[in-house]
Amino acid sequence: MISKRVVQSMQNSSYIRRMFEEGIRLKQIHGAGNVYDFSLGNPDLEPPKEVTEALKAIVAEARPGLHSYMSNAGYPETRAAVAGKLSRVSGVEIPAANVLMTVGAAGAMNCAFHSLLDAGDEVVVLAPYFVDYLNYVANHGGTPVIVACSPGTFLPDVAAIAAALTPRTKAVLLNSPNNPTGAIYPESVLRALADALAAAEKRFGTSIYVVSDEPYGEIVFDGATVPATLAIFRNLIVASSWSKSLALPGERIGFACVHPLADDAKELLAAMAYAIRALGFINAPAIFQRVIERSIDARCDLASYVDRRARLLTVLSDAGFTCTPPQGALYLFVKSPEPDEVAFSARAAAHRVLVVPGVAFGYPGYFRLTYCVSMKTIEDSRASWNAIAAEYGLKR
Ligand SMILES: Cc1ncc(COP(=O)(O)O)c(C=O)c1O
Repeated sequence: MISKRVVQSMQNSSYIRRMFEEGIRLKQIHGAGNVYDFSLGNPDLEPPKEVTEALKAIVAEARPGLHSYMSNAGYPETRAAVAGKLSRVSGVEIPAANVLMTVGAAGAMNCAFHSLLDAGDEVVVLAPYFVDYLNYVANHGGTPVIVACSPGTFLPDVAAIAAALTPRTKAVLLNSPNNPTGAIYPESVLRALADALAAAEKRFGTSIYVVSDEPYGEIVFDGATVPATLAIFRNLIVASSWSKSLALPGERIGFACVHPLADDAKELLAAMAYAIRALGFINAPAIFQRVIERSIDARCDLASYVDRRARLLTVLSDAGFTCTPPQGALYLFVKSPEPDEVAFSARAAAHRVLVVPGVAFGYPGYFRLTYCVSMKTIEDSRASWNAIAAEYGLKR
C-alpha cells in the first residue's frame, strides 16, 4: 500500500502531470507539431564549450579514483572553487568548508530542511511557489506556512511574512529569480525582510534561517542584477546548482553554502554533510564536481532565451494578453482573462495550447508559460493565442 501522505502529495502536484498527460493525448490526435506545449520548464540550451571540454579532458586523463566515493561534502578543490566564486560575487569571504556539493539545488534544500526541522516546525513558503517546495518541507516533518507575494509585482510582502512568523518558524524559503514569476527580489525588499526576521528572532529567542533557492541566479535579462543574498542575510543557506546556468539539469550537480556568520554554522554544516548521506545521496556526482571546478566561471550564451522570451511576449501582447516582462528565469506568469484559470487552461488546451494554471503554484488567477520551446512553436502558436483571446473578447 502506498503511503497516504505520498498519495495526497501526488494529487496536489497533479496539475502539471495532468498537463503533461493532456499534451501526450493531444499530440497523438493532432501530431506533435500542432500542439503548443508551454507547460514544462526544461532548460534547452547546450552547455558552454568550457564544460564539454573539461568533461572530455577529465575522462581522457582517467585519473585513478575518478569514480570513487569521497567525503560526503564533496571534493575540497571543488568546494574551494565554488567558495571563491561566491566570495567574488558577494564580497563576503566564504571559506571552502562552508560549501557542500549536492545533488542539484533540490538536494541542497532537502539537506537544509533535514538538518533544521523537527516535526511540526514551520517553514514560510512564498506563493507562487515551485511546486516541489511543499514536498521538500514535508519530507522532513515540517509544516509549510504559505504567504502570498504582492499581486502584480510578485515581490515578498514583508509585513505579511512578519505576521506569519511564530516561535516554531525555522526557515523562510526564497527563490529569486523566481519560478514561476520571473521576479528578481530587490535589495531593499530583502533588507526589510532581514530586519523583520532579526526582530522576530529577538522576540522569540530563536534562529530563523533564510533558505535561498538560487538556480536561476544567472538567467537574467535586460541588464538586471540579482542582489547577493550572502551580503544581506546572516542566518542564510544558499541552495543552488548549475542545472539552469550551465544547462546541466540531468547531471544533478549543485551546492549548498552556509553563511560563515550564521548561528551554529559549524554544527549546521556537519548536519548537512550528514544529511547528504542520511538521505541516500552519499555525495554529489564525482565527475561533474571536477567539471564544475574547471569551468566555474563559464556561462551559457543566453541569446536564444532572450529572443524567445521577446517573441513570446510579442505573440501574447499582440493577442491582447497583459504580461509583465519577467526579469529572470525561464517563465512568463500571465493574468488569466477569467478568474478561474483552471477553466482558462482547459479552454487553451482546446486550442492545442498547454499552460500550467496558477493553482499549481498556490496562486490562482494566473497561468505559467515557459519559453523553453522552439521559436517555431512560439510562432506557430500565434493563431491559437489569437483565437483564445477572441473567445474572451481581448482587445488587440
Ligand atoms: C525554483 C526551482 N528550484 C529548484 C529546482 C530544482 O533544481 P535542480 O535541478 O538544481 O535540483 C527547480 C527546477 O526546475 C526550480 O525551478
